[in-house]
Amino acid sequence: MIVLASDHAGFPLKEEIKVFLDGKGVEYIDCGTDSTASVDYAKFAQTACLKVTGGEADKAILCCGTGIGISMAANKVKGIRAAVCTNEFMAEMTRRHNNANIIALGGRIIDEPTAVKLADIFLNTEFEGDRHTKRVDMITAIENGTFEL
Ligand code: RB5
Repeated sequence: MIVLASDHAGFPLKEEIKVFLDGKGVEYIDCGTDSTASVDYAKFAQTACLKVTGGEADKAILCCGTGIGISMAANKVKGIRAAVCTNEFMAEMTRRHNNANIIALGGRIIDEPTAVKLADIFLNTEFEGDRHTKRVDMITAIENGTFEL
């Protein structure tokens, strides 16, 4: 299961990604927003992230104007690794090396076809594990306050 959420500035990207997922028969939960009326991205980030950390979904796609604010909010939730991506390489590598569970996209940065492409790559690229597992574990240790230099 995939979770989607956006603020007003990311709403057009979210809707286009939904069309793509519908076409592929991929199930998703849409946590809003429902229009381009101004809203606060942190609320939508939190709602979507809790579905991931709670096990209701494996991954989330979050959209705001730049992808930055909503990713910052998402990364405050324990267990979330959210990556702002603006190109295909970033979307691929944040899965392969960072095991990101959230991609954040900017509706004022990338166009809709690019957003769909990045979402597709993000959803269909596996984590490589191996040496990257140790590094991702270090991120988790920082989050838990147990990282030792
Ligand atoms: C909303 O105007 C904008 O600030 C928001 O979508 C996002 O870009 C914040 O990082």
